Amino acid sequence: MKAFKIVPSIAEYMDFRTLAKELKLGARDLILTNEYIYNPTIAALELGCHTCFQEKFGGGEPTDVMVDAILDDLRGKDFDRIVAVGGGTVIDIAKVLTVAKSTDRVDDLYDRMANLEKEHELIIVPTTCGTGSEVTNISIINRTTKGVKVGLVSPAMFADEAALVPGMLLSLPYPVFATSSIDAMVHAVESYLSPNACALSELFSAKALHLILSCWKDAVAAGGKDAWKKHALEFLRASNYAGIAFGHAGCAAVHAMAYPLGGVHHIPHGQANQLMFADVMRKYQEKKPIGKLNQLEELLGAELDTEPVFALETLYKLMDEVLEKGPLHEHGVTADELPVFAKNVIETQQRLLGNNYVELSEDDLLDIYRKAF
Ligand SMILES: [Fe+2]
Repeated sequence: MKAFKIVPSIAEYMDFRTLAKELKLGARDLILTNEYIYNPTIAALELGCHTCFQEKFGGGEPTDVMVDAILDDLRGKDFDRIVAVGGGTVIDIAKVLTVAKSTDRVDDLYDRMANLEKEHELIIVPTTCGTGSEVTNISIINRTTKGVKVGLVSPAMFADEAALVPGMLLSLPYPVFATSSIDAMVHAVESYLSPNACALSELFSAKALHLILSCWKDAVAAGGKDAWKKHALEFLRASNYAGIAFGHAGCAAVHAMAYPLGGVHHIPHGQANQLMFADVMRKYQEKKPIGKLNQLEELLGAELDTEPVFALETLYKLMDEVLEKGPLHEHGVTADELPVFAKNVIETQQRLLGNNYVELSEDDLLDIYRKAF
C-alpha cells in the first residue's frame, strides 16, 4: 500500500505583502504569473523580483511551444526561487521550470523524466480554488509537436511551499469560482470513493467536502455573485485538502469522462466534471448500491441536513444552484460523438478508471454519456 505523504510545506498568509515579507522575496526570485494578477496585487510592493507573464507566451493550456518560449526568455536571467502565482496553467508551467536546467527544452525533460532534479526552489500561490495543483507533482503539457498530451511527473516537481493567500482569490469572476469549486468537490468525492483511499486521505476528502458544502449553502442562501468571497479562505483550504486527497487516492470516472468534453468542446474543466458527475454517481448506485458509497451518502446527508438516501440528489440540486447545468447537447456535444468518447475514455484513461468505485465497461460509459446527453 502506498504510504500517505504531504510533500510541500503548507502555509497561510493574510495577504501577499505578508508572504513577501516572511519569505524575503527579492532580486533572487522569479515571479511567474499573469499581468492581470500582478498589477493589482504585487506590483506596488516593489519587490525587485524578476517577473515572467505567462500570457505573453500564448493562451490556454500549457503547450511545449509555450514552455520552450518561456525557457528561452529566462536564459541568462539569474534567479534561485520560482514563485508561481496563478491558476492551473501558471502552476503547471512553474513545476516544469523548477526541474529545467538553463539549456533544457521541454523534450529534454520528458527524455529524462525518471531522473529529473530540482534546479530551483518552488513556491506556489494558487489564485483559483479548484485544481489543488499546488500540492501535486504532475504537469499536463500538450506536446503539440508530437500530437500528444502527456503528464510530466517527478518527485522533484513538488513545490517546496504551497502558500494559501485568500485575498488572491477575490478578483475571480463568479463562473471561474463556480467551476473551480465544483472541480475541488469532485476531487474530494472521487478520492473518497477510490479503492486507493486510506484513512488519512479520507480525512482530507471529508474535510474538503465539509468546507465546500457548508460555504456553498451559505453563499447560495445569501444570494448574489459575491457572497462566496467571505469564505475565500475556506474554499482555498478545501481545494488544497482535496488536492492532498486525490494526490494520494486519485481521481476517477468523472474526470476521465470529462476530458473529451474539454478536449473537443472546450468546456471548462470544472464544468465538464459537473456535467458528468450525477450520472456517474447514479451508475455507481445502480451497479454497487452497498459499499463505500453509503459512507459517502451518510457524510453528505449530515452536511446537507437530509437522510443519506436523499443526499446525492440534494447535492446535485445544490450544485445546480452554484452553477446552472444543462444537458450535454446544449454544450455542443452531438449524439454521434458519444460512442467515440466512450471508446476513447476506455482506451486512454485507464490511469483514472483504475480508481473507480466500481468497474465500468465501455457500455456503462456510453450509457452514462447518453443519460447526460
Ligand atoms: Fe480536476
